[in-house]
Amino acid sequence: MQKFIITGGKRLSGELVLQGSKNSCLPIMAASLLCSSECTLHSCPKLTDVYAASRILNCVGCKCSFSENTAVIDPGNVSCTAISEELMREMRSSIIFMGAMLGRAGECIVSVPGGCELGPRPIDMHLSALRKMGVEITETGGIIRCRTPSGRAKGTRISLAFPSVGATENVILCAVTAEGDTVINNAAREPEICDLCGFLRACGADIAGDGGSRILIKGKQQLHGCEYTIMPDRIAGATYLSMVAASKGELILTNACTAEMEPFLSVLEQTGCSIYTSDDRIYLRSAARLKAVRDRIRTMPHPGFPTDAQAVLMAALSLADGTSVFEENIFDCRYRHTGALIKMGADIQVLGKVAVVKGAERLFGAAAEATDLRGGAAMVIAAICAEGRSEISRICHIDRGYEKIEEAVRLLGGDMRRV
Ligand code: EPU
Repeated sequence: MQKFIITGGKRLSGELVLQGSKNSCLPIMAASLLCSSECTLHSCPKLTDVYAASRILNCVGCKCSFSENTAVIDPGNVSCTAISEELMREMRSSIIFMGAMLGRAGECIVSVPGGCELGPRPIDMHLSALRKMGVEITETGGIIRCRTPSGRAKGTRISLAFPSVGATENVILCAVTAEGDTVINNAAREPEICDLCGFLRACGADIAGDGGSRILIKGKQQLHGCEYTIMPDRIAGATYLSMVAASKGELILTNACTAEMEPFLSVLEQTGCSIYTSDDRIYLRSAARLKAVRDRIRTMPHPGFPTDAQAVLMAALSLADGTSVFEENIFDCRYRHTGALIKMGADIQVLGKVAVVKGAERLFGAAAEATDLRGGAAMVIAAICAEGRSEISRICHIDRGYEKIEEAVRLLGGDMRRV
């Protein structure tokens, strides 16, 4: 089992090139199944979740090869429409292959992605939307069998009860090759939805309205392959900015999606950091000591404050001057990192969906176990700012979302090793 060993107390400074977005790359890899010819994807982050997606593509008969950050996917021969339970369990976002397989083959057998690290993550909205598109679905013992009687789903009007990212992606993937038009009301507006639609348009799909709450899709018989560059990862960006801000340092982040990061940047700015943006660059200079954020930080669907940035900002604010209050509105169990931060000396009280963070004068190195991807990143940030040595285990969670995080930290002058 690998671990991170971090010796804290170093001020981080330097320049980083932001990795490609995990949460864009995964649905786009699934979407390549819909094409009749090869897709070349640039800026794919080298992450365990991305390799899990490529194993799913291989399992259904597609070739997927990587050279550095470029993936070439040949979706020519889909020979199998069942994805094994083992592969489905490897990452929770495997569920987006359901819409893609339906769009490609009109049928699929998948399973419910198992036990959850952020609380229950039901897929009821995915299933009811696909049923409305004429997909017959049966569920037995966690196995989900889907088929379309005519071989193609049918376009229809769908209103999501909540703007779920995954449900919006599954409907889009099923609708682009469906018969007729689909309208998604209350669609998710996350930038990764726009990136997926941008890719699909480059493959010949007819989609409008993404980025807003109402997406219109005109079904096409077939899509073709294309060459596409995945957008930068706004959550990895939020993580490195929180890390450098907490260390009282200075950062130039390049290949950054500045507009898409605004909901996070506007909150980070309230900590007293100086932040300047231009095109695809963000410059941050931290304050001598961060200030607490005065307004309650409420996680919300985009363009609200992103739930994925809650833990990393909390780690930074655990050393700020004053009290900050978080309200987690997207997932039920997204404060599991607080135990490790408290062990390192943070003063955090969790009451249901609210966490009250009283800034401490200092944190101390400790042994901690990563509980989930973003929670693990929060522990890395706390360890970088703590006095002494920390050991972070179960780093497989962190490797799901951050490309060589220890190299990025070392590049900025931090002391972090993988053993
Ligand atoms: N929900 C339902 N029923 C459904 C679908 C969702 O009740 O059928 C609930 C979920 O349980 C959750 C809320 O709706 O409480 C939001 O879920 P959503 O479907 O929007 O999230 P997701 O698609 O499962 C994606 C990201 C997450 C990110 C969320 C919210 C990917 C692969 N995952 O998850 O990213 O937190 O959107 O923005 O895109 C991460 O990167 O660490 C991560 C967890």
